[in-house]
Amino acid sequence: MNLLPIRLKIAPFLLAFALGVAGFAGTSCTTTGKKSKSSTTTAAPTGAPAPLPTSTGTQDSYSRVATSLPFIALTFDDGPHPTNTPRLLDLLKSKNVKATFYVVGTNVRRYPEIMRRIVAEGHEIGNHTVNHPNLTKLSDDGVRKELRDCHQAIVSTTGVAPRTLRPPYGAITSAQKSWIRKEFGYPSIMWSVDPEDWKKPGSSVVTSRLVSGAGPGGILLVHDIHAPTIDAMPATIDQLLAKGYQFVTVTQLIAMEHKG
Ligand code: NI
Repeated sequence: MNLLPIRLKIAPFLLAFALGVAGFAGTSCTTTGKKSKSSTTTAAPTGAPAPLPTSTGTQDSYSRVATSLPFIALTFDDGPHPTNTPRLLDLLKSKNVKATFYVVGTNVRRYPEIMRRIVAEGHEIGNHTVNHPNLTKLSDDGVRKELRDCHQAIVSTTGVAPRTLRPPYGAITSAQKSWIRKEFGYPSIMWSVDPEDWKKPGSSVVTSRLVSGAGPGGILLVHDIHAPTIDAMPATIDQLLAKGYQFVTVTQLIAMEHKG
């Protein structure tokens, strides 16, 4: 089988990521610049990074995305929190890292300014229900109301619709995943690495669990409501960048499915 056509198809795809992701900005872009003209039809303003492709994929659920490309998604659950989330946003901005926030509807209503800041700074929002119940213990109508009310709270606050669900506690049945996908369009997003940060094992432990557990297409689960988790992020991000990983949002990661 001749691999050449495949490589030619992948090269512009990789370039699209290289242009938009932290660590590849600046002079490194010029090394792949010769491929740029063949890649996209939507021209970004001069000097601005090209937007990364996004997708919600075709599976009902993802715990990681099947790719060999060195991309991972950092996900923060249960916020926004009035002090920890802004501190995290400052940090993510300083490192030019984009993340995904699985927010709880009650907190969305309480902290609308933080919600708007999350979106304004290029992060992604996902649905984590209104009241954080165990979905497997609810009727279909009960689940429907939890998802719809959180969706509406996010849309009315930020103007942006969530495209993925993280079920609280990771508790969800296969049947629920299936009808939620059909009705809301949400894939259920689980995780490939859980450092159990909510048990407060210490920031260095959270960092080492995340770094040792990360792999291509990985989805990392932490909670931005806990201060020690925010404390763990500088070393976590620096060590993962040093290992060659780049951070993307969940829908950007799904768009890399079967690439690379
Ligand atoms: Ni949660």
